[in-house]
Amino acid sequence: MGKALEGVRVLDFTHVQSGPTCTQLLAWFGADVIKVERPGEGDITRGQLRDVPEADSLYFTMLNHNKRSITLDTKNPDGKRVLEDLVRICDVMVENFAPGVLDRMGLTWERIQELNPRIIVASVKGFGPGPYEDCKVYENVAQCAGGSASTTGFDDGPPMVTGAQIGDSGTGLHLALGIVTALYQRTQTGRGQKVLAAMQDAVLNLCRVKLRDQQRLERGPLKEYPQYPNGEFGDTVPRAGNASGGGQPGWILKCKGWETDPNAYIYFITQAPVWAKICDVIGKPEWVTDPDYATPAARLPRLKDIFATVEEWTMTKTKFEVMEILNKYDIPCGPILSMKELAEDQSLRETGTIVEVDHPTRGKYLTVGNPIKLSDSPTEVTRSPLLGEHTDEILREVLGFDERRIGEVRDSGALGLVVPRMAAE
Ligand code: COA
Repeated sequence: MGKALEGVRVLDFTHVQSGPTCTQLLAWFGADVIKVERPGEGDITRGQLRDVPEADSLYFTMLNHNKRSITLDTKNPDGKRVLEDLVRICDVMVENFAPGVLDRMGLTWERIQELNPRIIVASVKGFGPGPYEDCKVYENVAQCAGGSASTTGFDDGPPMVTGAQIGDSGTGLHLALGIVTALYQRTQTGRGQKVLAAMQDAVLNLCRVKLRDQQRLERGPLKEYPQYPNGEFGDTVPRAGNASGGGQPGWILKCKGWETDPNAYIYFITQAPVWAKICDVIGKPEWVTDPDYATPAARLPRLKDIFATVEEWTMTKTKFEVMEILNKYDIPCGPILSMKELAEDQSLRETGTIVEVDHPTRGKYLTVGNPIKLSDSPTEVTRSPLLGEHTDEILREVLGFDERRIGEVRDSGALGLVVPRMAAE
């Protein structure tokens, strides 16, 4: 079966996490992704958080599947010529360097246009145009600047970052959508364009509901927040602990074993249409008709006590037992699954969401496969490339260089260390 992005060639000039997540998705959809890396070290993550000596780290391998790697010193004049050759024949260039780096390399938008007016140039930056546009940005900076940290955590504690990499992987996802959209527009216009996903913007987009609440707050207290009715609301959206962001109140409740297992918890939602069933299950049938509990509005000021009562019931069961019982009644809930439980989940293995991959220097490891499933474009996850593994292949097959030209580029030092040739005798 073919792949959705077959025939699309991507010059992957990305590093660390945000850019690589984007190009990995494009590769999974069938694009030919050519990762250009600095000779010697390559993407800095190859050597970061290493768990196996001398082998590419999981940080790198889990973000760079299905790509090819070429080493190229783009500050070397011949290396820059090769880079420009790649720009000429690629459909997309993706980069997430610090602001100004591409320009300093001589790859201004104008120069890129001269080389290839059809190319789409996609960038991740920390901030869009404005006072912070020149700043370097990492994940947690974006979470803080995009509104996530100020709205995450408990009201009596400091702002918190989340484990989900919404700044890096979240922005990579936004950028990938921008790229395929620009490719689609190119079929009409014949022209490339610039695509920008700023990390602050991506995080703010994912925090959309909190900007909604900011405006609701101006019209009165946020009644579904745990601060209501006892807490004071200031002039900005407070941290809501584990309250649900929607109109159906929810909270995280202890289950059997919580004393020793940090993940023996369940997310419980008191969805209005199933309120009667909830009352039956937890042994409070009188709440169905009691005017203090019968309607969502009556329950709002009593949510804390309601969840405490539900918790008395959930603590008598494991999270999986609670899940099984509640699902029979269509009561929405979610067990708090640990990474260990997810790694061992058979159904995630069967759908290709968790995949085992073999790697020549590190052996077998688990990765997250393509979370987006296309019925006509299946994903086969293949290992990440070794540094410069495809350098010759790309020069020869993609750029059409003959042996003389390859030798010339090699001798210039553009591909890395030049090993002096031994004298013939
Ligand atoms: N050959 C030669 N030089 C190369 C090269 C190559 N193949 N690839 C990169 N370089 C050089 C660049 O030219 C640049 O040099 P310069 O500063 O002299 O112009 C340098 O390597 C690297 O640039 P930079 O992006 O500044 O790396 P950094 O490690 O200092 O900063 C980030 C890392 C992530 C903070 C920064 O890239 C950034 O802010 N990116 C945008 C936001 C982002 O994506 N953040 C999330 C990362 S997960």
